[in-house]
Amino acid sequence: MSEIPEKKPTKPVVLTCAQPTGRLHLGNYLGAVLNWGRMQQDYDCFFGIVDQHAITVRQVPAELRDNTYSCLAQYMACGLDPARSHLFAQSHVLGHTELAWILGCICPLGQLERMTQFKDKARKQESIDAGLLYYPVLMAADILLYNAELVPVGDDQKQHLELARDLAEKFNHRYSDTFKVPEPFISKVGSRIMSLQDPTAKMSKSDPNQASTVYITDRPEEIRKKIMSSVTDSGAEVRAGDDKPGVTNLLTIMSACTGRSLDVLQSEFSGKGYGDFKKAVADAVVATLDPVRLRYDDLIKDREALNKVFKAGAEQAQAVAFKTLSKVNRKVGFVERPR
Ligand code: TRP
Repeated sequence: MSEIPEKKPTKPVVLTCAQPTGRLHLGNYLGAVLNWGRMQQDYDCFFGIVDQHAITVRQVPAELRDNTYSCLAQYMACGLDPARSHLFAQSHVLGHTELAWILGCICPLGQLERMTQFKDKARKQESIDAGLLYYPVLMAADILLYNAELVPVGDDQKQHLELARDLAEKFNHRYSDTFKVPEPFISKVGSRIMSLQDPTAKMSKSDPNQASTVYITDRPEEIRKKIMSSVTDSGAEVRAGDDKPGVTNLLTIMSACTGRSLDVLQSEFSGKGYGDFKKAVADAVVATLDPVRLRYDDLIKDREALNKVFKAGAEQAQAVAFKTLSKVNRKVGFVERPR
């Protein structure tokens, strides 16, 4: 047998996107973005900032623009690396809305009307715009445009991903094999980072009590204050358990920040009080987030540099998007675009 190792197959494509709305918190970081960063080694990663999705609810234009820059800087600060991955803004790449149109033409209206996120959002609004209903089709286009195999998403996006799979299969069946059918990748940790004030609810940026949520750009003093005033449980023992949601949450956070297991942490803190424990949790979170915040502060100052990242990312993404789109256009029977 030959000594020469087999030629490595090309790396599978991972794609995930996030709306440019505000700041990332500790739950987003530990549960999602940290993992995305780790995937860059073994996968060809596309990370999209989906500004076109963001306008399905009303936005203040200047804020949307600022948030889009801020979002890019936050992701880079968290370790998403434009030298290894493709970081781009959705509106910079021609093809997302084009493919969404074509997919919409094979998408049953009823399936969109049954989306739980649509129903939730629609209930809260007086009048419903078509974009809100169409949102999951655009998301399917984001994924299929790059032939993504693996799509890291939160639990709340599972139904949308199911639609993307259905549309891929339907297109493949109706025309011919074109799209990979994407698999969701759902991280377990993220859904376990809970509010510091109500450990039965997920940590969230829309929590009215902002002491509940640690942001990745919080200063060390703010982080310490929030953790020291977090809700704990009756009894004085530092241990995880269903009867101890507050302490369990802090243990989970500390474990994710330090890489030490719950068991190790529990034995380390056995016999110690909540005060000492919280101090240690705060130290661990500060040690994790402080480098992130410092990188963010640097990155956000330099819009020219961020523009360069957007430009390179758009070019890389566009090359793939054009290829997929011309294949798709041909299959559905459009005349080849005159050159
Ligand atoms: N709907 C997703 C969210 O709100 C964002 C999103 C848009 C997305 N397009 C995507 C996520 C494609 C994964 C893949 O979280």
